[in-house]
Amino acid sequence: MHREFTLDNEAQTAAIAQLLAAALSNQDVNAQNVCIYLNGDLGAGKTTFSRYLLQSLGHVGSVKSPTYTLVEPYVIDGRDVFHFDLYRLGDPQELEFMGIRDYFEHNSLCLIEWPNKGEGCLPPADIQIDLTLSPDHQDMRVMEWTANSDVGQHIIKMVP
Ligand SMILES: Nc1ncnc2c1ncn2[C@@H]1O[C@H](COP(=O)(O)OP(=O)(O)OP(=O)(O)O)[C@@H](O)[C@H]1O
Ligand SMILES: [Mg+2]
Repeated sequence: MHREFTLDNEAQTAAIAQLLAAALSNQDVNAQNVCIYLNGDLGAGKTTFSRYLLQSLGHVGSVKSPTYTLVEPYVIDGRDVFHFDLYRLGDPQELEFMGIRDYFEHNSLCLIEWPNKGEGCLPPADIQIDLTLSPDHQDMRVMEWTANSDVGQHIIKMVP
């Protein structure tokens, strides 16, 4: 299943993040492991979207970009949420040394920027998000969602 949204400005990115957060907070989904890949060029808005998503899920406080730490952990309403940015990862194997498997156990939610850098060492995405900059307007983005699993489909279908 595939969905596409045109986001004219950052406020619309915030609004769509809130809708996805509501679906992710649904009790059927809340108890499951969910992995979301975030693809897009530098500055496409992956971190901005993640920040709004984490805040909409209930995180209070700042959201740092995990550019240097590779991963920022959160506990939101008792659920482990991990925000990755693998841009600076030299080799996917490094994820094994980080103990990447532990992050994908339990009922965690993982948001992964630059998942292609970890290819071969990541679980498959339940939802893949592709963000594209618009050549027309500085603040415009196209956001595409592709569900690759049953839980991914279930989540996407819940978004009005
Ligand atoms: N519609 C929009 N949605 C998201 N961000 C927007 C939008 N319009 C403008 N922006 C701005 O674009 C920038 C996106 O930067 P951000 O760090 O989120 O990108 P990124 O995809 O995470 O890049 P990187 O690959 O470097 O991590 C921010 O400065 C944000 O304010
Ligand atoms: Mg980023």
